[in-house]
This record gives sequence, structure tokens and C-alpha cells, in this order.
Amino acid sequence: MSMQHDRWAELTGGQAGEEYARRFARLAASGQDIHGEAAFCDALLEPAARVLDAGCGTGRIAIRLTELGHLCTGVDVDRSMLAVARRDAPDQEWLYGDLAHLDSLVPESGFDLALAAGNVIPLLAPGTGPAVVRHLAGALRTGGLLVTGMGLDAEHLPLAEPTVTLAEFDHWCTQAGLTLGQRFATWDGAPYHQGGGYAVSVHSRPTA
Ligand SMILES: C[S@@+](CC[C@H](N)C(=O)[O-])C[C@H]1O[C@@H](n2cnc3c(N)ncnc32)[C@H](O)[C@@H]1O
Repeated sequence: MSMQHDRWAELTGGQAGEEYARRFARLAASGQDIHGEAAFCDALLEPAARVLDAGCGTGRIAIRLTELGHLCTGVDVDRSMLAVARRDAPDQEWLYGDLAHLDSLVPESGFDLALAAGNVIPLLAPGTGPAVVRHLAGALRTGGLLVTGMGLDAEHLPLAEPTVTLAEFDHWCTQAGLTLGQRFATWDGAPYHQGGGYAVSVHSRPTA
């Protein structure tokens, strides 16, 4: 297990689970759609697909994808976040561990889709991005998809400044054998324009 703390742990001290869940509950109660990421992924998937929710947090997205009929495995390194997921969906698979060591957590590959939503990629521990992307790519079946959503400026991040550019992220993906398929500015599919502050990217593991 890496000794280096991810940026989420640095920000929250590993105690954010309940407050994070309350924040989304308040948004839902105010009428906001909190299931945009799940709807986006569902539209890319065949029924009963296998989904890896990488940095699943409180399980907000994996729980919704399970309701939509998919088979989800959630992985997170923050015990306070996972505790909420386990309480809210005790029958789902929740794994505690670091995505930089995903191969030892999820030895069998073959996921149809791996998701890293909610700024998981910018919040990784410094220097671990290439290894995490390599492991996520390795968890996919041939033809499988890596879906990510990340802020690219302070307005779209819980950080003072961005930690990764899209060019760097795309390079990590290319090194991991992934190909960029689609890129949007939002989870409801608004077009991405160069210089935008948020990107939803769909990379794929080529079929041959
Ligand atoms: C802002 S939360 C997003 C949670 C969830 N994806 C969502 O959108 O609701 C970011 C999550 O990434 C997780 N994370 C960051 N680095 C990680 C790592 N190396 N391995 C596993 N999880 C990690 C954090 O623990 C945290 O739960």
C-alpha cells in the first residue's frame, strides 16, 4: 500500500463521508439531478454490464448503476466514504484499497467500464496518475471503456489549482494503450471546447 496520501485525504483528513453524503442528499432534496454520471455511463452500456467505480466514495454512482441493472464493484481508499456506501448498499461489493495497487485488489479483469468520476484523477496522490490509469486500463475487457470526469481549473476543483492537464491525462491513457473516443464538457453531453474548465472523457481499450 502506498505511504503517500492522496489529495482527497489531505483535504478532508479521511473524515468526509457523512458530510459528503449529506451534501448530495441536500442537492437531491432541492430538486437537482445527482445521477448525471450514472445516466451517462448507462447510455454507453449493454444491460447487466460489469462496472468498476474507481474512487467510488459514498457509492452515489455505483448504487444508482446497480438500480439500473448493472453489476458494480466500488473501490476507495477513504474508510469514512466507504462506510456510507456499505451502510446504504450492504449487498453491493465495496473494496477498500488504493487504485495505485488495483491489480492486487481486483485481480480478474474484464470490466465493461471503469469510472473515475468526481475529480478522482486530479485528487490522486502526486505522481501516481500514470500507474492508476495503467491499472484501470488493465481492468477493462477488450473494447471496454474508461470514463472520467475532472476539473481543469480552480472553479471546477476542490483544490486551489489544477493538478493535471488534459494533455497529460491523455498521454497517460495513450501509454496505457487506451484511445480517446469522446469528450464532453458536462455529464449531459454538452460539447467540450478547448480550454474548458471541466472534461468528461471516454477512452477505450482497442479491440485488437
Ligand atoms: C470527491 S470524491 C468522489 C467520490 C465519487 N466518485 C463521487 O463522484 O461521488 C473523490 C474520491 O476519490 C478517492 N480516491 C482518491 N485517490 C484514491 C486512490 N488512490 N485510491 C482509491 N480512491 C481514491 C477518495 O478517497 C474519494 O472518495
